[in-house]
Amino acid sequence: MSHDFSHSVDRAGSRAEKWDRGNIAGICGNADALPFWVADMDLPVSDGIRQALEDEARLGVIGYRNSSALKPAFISFMKERHDTVLDEDHVAFAQGMLHAIALAMNIFTKEGDRILLPYPSYHPFIDMIEDNGRVIVPYHMKRTAEGFTLDPDEWKAAGEGCQAILFCSPHNPTGIVFTDSELESILTLARDRGQLVLCDEIHSDLALPGFRHIPMVKANERIGADVITFAAASKSFNIAGEHCAFACFSSKEMKERYEKVEKRLHLTGPGYSVASMAEMAYLHGLEYNRQLCRHLERNQNRLEEFLRTRCPELKLCKGHASFIVFIDCSAIWDKVVQDRQKNPQLYDGDHFVLSHFFGQRGGICMNDGTWFGGDEYRCYVRFNFGCGEDLLEKGLEGLEKAVRFIRES
Ligand SMILES: Cc1ncc(COP(=O)(O)O)c(C=O)c1O
Repeated sequence: MSHDFSHSVDRAGSRAEKWDRGNIAGICGNADALPFWVADMDLPVSDGIRQALEDEARLGVIGYRNSSALKPAFISFMKERHDTVLDEDHVAFAQGMLHAIALAMNIFTKEGDRILLPYPSYHPFIDMIEDNGRVIVPYHMKRTAEGFTLDPDEWKAAGEGCQAILFCSPHNPTGIVFTDSELESILTLARDRGQLVLCDEIHSDLALPGFRHIPMVKANERIGADVITFAAASKSFNIAGEHCAFACFSSKEMKERYEKVEKRLHLTGPGYSVASMAEMAYLHGLEYNRQLCRHLERNQNRLEEFLRTRCPELKLCKGHASFIVFIDCSAIWDKVVQDRQKNPQLYDGDHFVLSHFFGQRGGICMNDGTWFGGDEYRCYVRFNFGCGEDLLEKGLEGLEKAVRFIRES
């Protein structure tokens, strides 16, 4: 069956966070800007997921649901999609990715522990470590001509004395798909240093064609570090609002320790619709997911080509997974600052300067680079190309309009 991703779903006026005019104004100063920020996609879900939700509505009763088929469905998907065999005794259900990581961080590390975090970083990781009284040890990835990369020697030096690592693979926002040997050296070092590896793999099923995501648990089979990976159907099948995840532990003891706390806090069991969607996705969504990856590859290629030919001032930091990408705007930064000085009413002081620039001058809303680690990333924006070709073209027009403004200023 072929899935049509050419047109975006019109979510304007819905309750989508992404399209909320107040949110958009807060990020880029222009409530009417088109949203290319938060990481969900303006694309239709599979017919199977839609059908599962319609069946529930038709039944007319949302009672307690038997969700015992969900974990086996996830495990069989991991085998099929990633050739990774998971032991059910090592896998726990969790209500959302961030919730699961925060819980694991609380159980397996203690206040004051030092946690190595690669930057640029998905902002909630920064909050999570700080809010839980742990200490961030930053590692800023190396900028290359194409994008970002993890330098093994710098990584090794940065991680000395850390008790844990909070990793993201594939990486948000750079889209890096880590190779087997990169994962092996991270894991070997962690094992030798007795560091716990917490690895968010929410973007794992969206490696673009030609790239292979290797689950950390699989890479760890021959190494034996203490690892917890977190996976979800949410990005892979465009059901980000479902809030359902799985935590996979390198040992049964760790899983039991985690589940004991989940039980104590009564955090067990997915909601009715959540389980229906996730089950449907894992059991019948593989082809949808594959076609989605091909669509995302086309969109990123289109973005790359557009920037190269029409806006060479903007440099794409090309990723190999998912639908988010960093754009390096260093070449226009000085002029953007001049625009802010001349027109302070369009900006919010020093806050989110580039996202205000693109919001005000191009009518598009993107995440400001500073959201991913402060001033070091002020010359970047994160663009979300998880949409149909129609909306993507409008985003490209917005980028060009903003760049033209700079050229003419
Ligand atoms: C790397 C990463 N982790 C976690 C999340 C959020 O997951 P959840 O909504 O299931 O907590 C996102 C959402 O964008 C993400 O990109």
